[in-house]
Amino acid sequence: MEEDLKIISDGALSYCRGNLFLEGCALEKIAADRGTPCYVYSTQVLRGRVSSLKEAFAPLSPLICYSVKANSNLTVLRLMKEENLGVDVVSEGELLRARKAGFPGEKIVFAGAGKSPQEIDLAVRWHLFCLTVENAEELDYIEKAGARYKFPVRCALRLNLNVDVDTHHYVKTSRKETKFGLDPEQAIPLIKNRRRWRWVRIAGLHFHLGSQIKEPSGYAQALSLVREFCEKTRFVPEILDIGGGFGISYRPDEHVVPISSFAQTVSGTLKGWCRTRVILEPGRYLVGTAGFLLTRVLYTKKRPGGKTFIIVDAAMNDLVRPAIYGSYHHIIPVRKRMGKNMVADVVGPVCETGDYLAKERTLPAPVRAGDLLIVAGAGAYGFSMASNYNSRRRPCEVLVEGRKSRLIRKRESFQDLWRLEEN
Ligand code: LLP
Repeated sequence: MEEDLKIISDGALSYCRGNLFLEGCALEKIAADRGTPCYVYSTQVLRGRVSSLKEAFAPLSPLICYSVKANSNLTVLRLMKEENLGVDVVSEGELLRARKAGFPGEKIVFAGAGKSPQEIDLAVRWHLFCLTVENAEELDYIEKAGARYKFPVRCALRLNLNVDVDTHHYVKTSRKETKFGLDPEQAIPLIKNRRRWRWVRIAGLHFHLGSQIKEPSGYAQALSLVREFCEKTRFVPEILDIGGGFGISYRPDEHVVPISSFAQTVSGTLKGWCRTRVILEPGRYLVGTAGFLLTRVLYTKKRPGGKTFIIVDAAMNDLVRPAIYGSYHHIIPVRKRMGKNMVADVVGPVCETGDYLAKERTLPAPVRAGDLLIVAGAGAYGFSMASNYNSRRRPCEVLVEGRKSRLIRKRESFQDLWRLEEN
């Protein structure tokens, strides 16, 4: 049990006299002060993850661009900035957030399957480090914006390499049947004719294989294909953006190859490409294990001769990953329970059968109304995918550092729900 806690929280969770602590903060106290449901993040885990990623990839001196979509809270972004990272953004909103958090243009890369002309204009106006090109028609917009601001725009063509990776179907992004990137055959003429543009500077290549990838063979395969592509087109990329995707352990016994092995595979395959600047776009790896959804049990319900349900105050609108991907998130009681195990579905109050956080989960008994639970692995694609479904207010967010905790986003108010509808 204690060992499981360590694995799923990088050592930041522990019981002290039967009470669960995140770093030096009692989760019971956070729930009492801030209410539930509430996202809680650990500074120690965030910084620890940044260090291990930096250390693993140090031989390549990459530009690490944290993928804002995983967790776009301004305080998290500022922490990434303090750690000297750049950011990967995919929309005007993310770009504005990154600017608000203080990232300079030269530390921002912009990817996205459907950038609007306005978004491209803004990206060029702010002199971003690089724009990923996923569609030949984007080049016209980029050229126009470059001419408008008299700024040569560094671009990377995103290749769809048709590399399969072992992850959920919805987050595989480099298969032919997905909308992302250009087929290498389509990219060849763009590379060959790249000098016809005055303001577009095709300086490199990009790929992103998918998310929650647990072993590095896909990266090796993709990099070999990129190498072939470069040999064929005699293109020497100045930059090579290999996306994100590095997985994390959601289950205590889930084996994910250490980040150093991903780094070794990438370095090994890139041997001899000394003129290429590597860009990484990790999201989940940096924030996933740092976040927890703190929730209170409202009711328990046992069907005669059947299932037990634990009905909590967090729901699919707060953490949608189980409902969309059937994903597993480890659940731990805040008050240590020593009874024998029980099996239950942990569900929320939303009016959908798909509204669950865990199915047929074994938990230490008893679990009673009023108890607090935490849902682990919620730092990435947790709050950032939250919605107001069922007119529920999105939760507040709290950052813990040692014995201190602070509110980094307030819980929404009911007025926030209808503010834009009043006239
Ligand atoms: N770069 C690009 C171009 C991406 O599309 C993504 C994620 C990333 C970087 C960051 O990937 P990461 O390192 O976080 O795996 N909502 C899903 C994940 C969607 C990922 C979309 N793209 C989930 O909750 O599992």
